[in-house]
Amino acid sequence: MRPFVSYLALVAGAYAQSSGYTDANTGITFQGYEDTTGFKYGMAVPVTPATDFIGQMVVPSNGSGYGGISLTGEMVGSLLIVAWPNSGSVVASLRETSGYTSPEAYTNASISLNPIANGTFVNSTHMSYTFVCAGCITGDSLSFSASATDLVVGWAMSAKSVTNPSSSSGATFVYHEAGYGDFGLTLTDAESSSYDTWASMATLSNTTSSNTTTCSSTSTNTTATVSNSTYDYIIAGAGPAGIIVAERLAETGKSVLLLERGAASTYATGGRSVVDWNSTVTQYDVPAMDYYLTTASDTSEYCTDVANMAGCILGGGTMVNAMMFVRPQERDFDDKWPTGWKWSDVSSSADRLYERNPGTTLSSLDGKRYDQQAFTTLQTFFSKAMGFSQVDAIQSPNAKTAVYSYPPWDAQDGLRAGPVKTYLPLANAVSNFKLKLNTKVFRAIRSNSTVTGVEVESSTGARQIINLNTGGSVILAGGSMSTPRILYNSGIGPTDQITTVQNGCVSVTLPAEDEWINLPVGQNLRDHPIFTLTFNATSINDTLVSTDFTSPSQTNIDLFAQGSGPLAQSGQRFNFWTSLNSTNGTRFFQGTCSSTADGSVRIKLYLTHGLTSTGVLGIDSNGATEFTTDPWMNTDADKAAVISMIDTIFAAARNSSIIIPSDASQTGASIVNANSYTQGDHFVGTTIIGETNDGTSVVDTNTKVWGMDNLFVVDASIHPDLPTGNTQAIVMVVAEHAAAKIVALASGGLNSTGSVTSGVAPFANNTTPAVGGDDDDDDACE
Ligand SMILES: Cc1cc2nc3c(=O)[nH]c(=O)nc-3n(C[C@H](O)[C@H](O)[C@H](O)COP(=O)(O)OP(=O)(O)OC[C@H]3O[C@@H](n4cnc5c(N)ncnc54)[C@H](O)[C@@H]3O)c2cc1C
Ligand SMILES: *[C@@H]1O[C@H](CO)[C@@H](O)[C@H](O)[C@H]1NC(C)=O
Ligand SMILES: *[C@@H]1O[C@H](CO)[C@@H](O)[C@H](O)[C@H]1NC(C)=O
Ligand SMILES: *[C@@H]1O[C@H](CO)[C@@H](O)[C@H](O)[C@H]1NC(C)=O
Ligand SMILES: *[C@@H]1O[C@H](CO)[C@@H](O)[C@H](O)[C@H]1NC(C)=O
Ligand SMILES: *[C@@H]1O[C@H](CO)[C@@H](O)[C@H](O)[C@H]1NC(C)=O
Ligand SMILES: *[C@@H]1O[C@H](CO)[C@@H](O)[C@H](O)[C@H]1NC(C)=O
Ligand SMILES: *[C@@H]1O[C@H](CO)[C@@H](O)[C@H](O)[C@H]1NC(C)=O
Ligand SMILES: *[C@@H]1O[C@H](CO)[C@@H](O)[C@H](O)[C@H]1NC(C)=O
Ligand SMILES: *[C@@H]1O[C@H](CO)[C@@H](O)[C@H](O)[C@H]1NC(C)=O
Ligand SMILES: *[C@@H]1O[C@H](CO)[C@@H](O)[C@H](O)[C@H]1NC(C)=O
Ligand SMILES: *[C@@H]1O[C@H](CO)[C@@H](O)[C@H](O)[C@H]1NC(C)=O
Ligand SMILES: *[C@@H]1O[C@H](CO)[C@@H](O)[C@H](O)[C@H]1NC(C)=O
Repeated sequence: MRPFVSYLALVAGAYAQSSGYTDANTGITFQGYEDTTGFKYGMAVPVTPATDFIGQMVVPSNGSGYGGISLTGEMVGSLLIVAWPNSGSVVASLRETSGYTSPEAYTNASISLNPIANGTFVNSTHMSYTFVCAGCITGDSLSFSASATDLVVGWAMSAKSVTNPSSSSGATFVYHEAGYGDFGLTLTDAESSSYDTWASMATLSNTTSSNTTTCSSTSTNTTATVSNSTYDYIIAGAGPAGIIVAERLAETGKSVLLLERGAASTYATGGRSVVDWNSTVTQYDVPAMDYYLTTASDTSEYCTDVANMAGCILGGGTMVNAMMFVRPQERDFDDKWPTGWKWSDVSSSADRLYERNPGTTLSSLDGKRYDQQAFTTLQTFFSKAMGFSQVDAIQSPNAKTAVYSYPPWDAQDGLRAGPVKTYLPLANAVSNFKLKLNTKVFRAIRSNSTVTGVEVESSTGARQIINLNTGGSVILAGGSMSTPRILYNSGIGPTDQITTVQNGCVSVTLPAEDEWINLPVGQNLRDHPIFTLTFNATSINDTLVSTDFTSPSQTNIDLFAQGSGPLAQSGQRFNFWTSLNSTNGTRFFQGTCSSTADGSVRIKLYLTHGLTSTGVLGIDSNGATEFTTDPWMNTDADKAAVISMIDTIFAAARNSSIIIPSDASQTGASIVNANSYTQGDHFVGTTIIGETNDGTSVVDTNTKVWGMDNLFVVDASIHPDLPTGNTQAIVMVVAEHAAAKIVALASGGLNSTGSVTSGVAPFANNTTPAVGGDDDDDDACE
């Protein structure tokens, strides 16, 4: 699910390859590639490549959208060239980004784009941009080297409008929903002795050599009105953590406002991104669509101002995720969580969650499992060649060494489940709860250590202040990629990050500098790296492929209407877990497996609980969060463990005749040393929980921000450790526990050390909200 490209050149031959063509408008012969979407890119270099090349990007366009090229194949850290039509002419820009956000203008006096007029135009069907990229062959992390032979070029395009399109450096871009990919290009094939003649057609310009800070959005009217409604609790973010905490707080009878920056998601909540074969279910409702969301007609659910993949829609990550629901094992809490958060402390919170939202290893309501060849094949391999035994991952969460299971999914009634389905209707049923969509929380308004309210921005950009009732609290639940921004904007975090906000392009009213609170916000970011291993498997000869899900048969449409069939299943077919013990400690692994074509099967191997790599999340001058240090595979002990685990699986496969590594030359070391991983999208740790305010944590064991009286964080940001499986289940358990802590704190259930006394169980009844309401599944929340 990684946007705009994948792992570094696994095998050059695996990419679509370029071929030669001569452009009629300029007469230049390019080595290029045309995708099935119509996106086309070509390149020409001198006989002895040095620093410059000629590029040509042709993008199908109705006058909107953009096309982009990455000179390394990667989106992050690469030199990007983006071009877009604006009122009939072409605007282009060099860009670079440290995260999966709209890339910022790249400024370097020795690198420039110089258009070739005859190949640069907008017509009724396309945009064509032909240019000399001067100084662009850098041979470092930005771009390929002049002596390279096989290049990997990444491309992306969108049909959606560019914001601020007249500004080369100030325009911003949405997610590349119209397509993206990589292709291979042999540099020697692009060499031509006519290069100098062609390059002389370029108009030299120094468009990118300006040294001024460019802001992508010009400040509009940022005067805020004041809402005349006030609340006991204001919660920022309606992802799983925010919804669960809001619903539990609403049960106490206090007034609760849940603010979500995104729009409605499931059909029941008012979402209308319906699939084209059923007009009453959205792409989020259909379990099988979870593997194809990035290709769906509507991709507005992804955040565009954060360092990496996150859902900005009602339900957050639970609407864009792949539905894996791995109940945490005891160790996930016992190794690193503080006092009051060990498994023995949180298990009753887990029970409250599972009562409403249990997860299942059998989602099709007819009790059948569909498309099982991958399961059967891998069951044979893992039981016979690896000695693993079968468990049910929902029933046996603590069995995490040498086991396999049918995949556990967050599904109910043949649909995607999660708190939008299992908690939100309960909250909507009580009058003291209010959900406001399309409302982004900017900052907590502080009177020194007390929060008095929040400043929000609507989707039209209008600002508003919403105040708390006396004694009320603000609870942050924007997710690991977003909650840090709210804190930075509130004067809480490392001084350099708050200074970036102060000097940045977004108009933010910060507290006076002597009220800034220096806490390690952003510092302990963790994620699961994923290694994709592919195997040949002759026993797989009748597997369902992507079109079976994106253009389903009538039989499967009819089965789905009954909550059954392959469309009621998520994309995974087989899971395994195991551990590795060495002098470097214990590390766990998860395998998530499926087959996407006959004759082959894929294992996505995750390094999970016990990994030691961490990264750092910061904020840029446009207010987007970014990775200042990547969180993956930056310790030698993590690398050694992954190499060992891959080699163990490969060796077992080679000795079996059941599955065979499809590339015989691959080893654990070749994969790990090529950094061939994708991210897990399981980010945690940007505001971790801790027992003392000693500079290593951001919130206390009641989830309250150190130094603040009434500001809390309850989402994945507070997790001081990564679990053994995907994160949503543990995020929900932790949210249930955080709600209990916050309620107990408010009702004075504290012991002398200020933490909640054990035995405080604020939610007497697990299934029924305290005030009115019912928990019928058909309780739509419009
Ligand atoms: C592509 C993808 C695939 C994944 N696959 C799986 C999987 O298969 N299984 C699994 O267990 N986990 C998976 N995860 C991870 C899981 O979804 C997350 O761990 C979980 O959703 C985190 O919950 P959260 O409440 O901390 O934050 P989020 O889910 O990120 O929710 C935060 C919410 O707050 C909103 N928000 C953010 N900032 C603001 C603001 N300033 N004001 C108002 N609202 C705001 C967002 O729009 C969002 O709705 C996946 C994640 C992604 C991105
Ligand atoms: C552009 O094309 C026109 C028409 O074909 C031609 O006359 C002109 O010389 C070309 N310009 C350049 C710089 O090649
Ligand atoms: C527009 O330009 C593109 C690229 O040169 C070309 O393929 C296409 O045919 C042109 N369309 C029209 C209507 O001329
Ligand atoms: C571009 O900038 C460089 C260095 O500042 C300068 O030498 C060159 O003449 C400029 N080119 C144009 C066309 O202005
Ligand atoms: C360019 O920016 C750098 C860093 O902000 C600054 O130190 C330098 O003085 C600037 N140069 C010019 C010519 O403005
Ligand atoms: C700015 O916005 C505020 C609040 O929406 C409004 O009261 C004010 O009139 C606006 N000012 C201008 C100059 O538009
Ligand atoms: C509060 O604001 C709403 C609209 O925002 C308005 O309809 C209502 O009359 C206001 N109430 C008071 C008491 O001002
Ligand atoms: C702000 O709060 C802190 C901690 O409570 C306190 O030490 C400090 O004096 C306060 N500052 C002001 C200006 O009130
Ligand atoms: C397809 O594979 C199955 C085993 O998965 C095997 O029993 C069956 O004979 C195969 N069918 C064909 C046509 O090869
Ligand atoms: C669409 O799916 C729903 C299940 O959510 C089902 O009730 C309905 O009958 C389906 N409609 C069609 C036309 O299949
Ligand atoms: C690693 O050690 C843990 C106990 O710390 C144990 O549960 C697990 O089975 C061990 N793993 C292996 C593969 O032996
Ligand atoms: C432990 O980690 C070190 C790197 O820190 C590595 O060189 C060594 O091979 C690892 N040992 C084992 C048994 O994996
Ligand atoms: C796996 O299958 C592919 C496609 O059929 C083939 O090219 C490749 O050589 C096979 N690999 C092995 C190790 O047999």
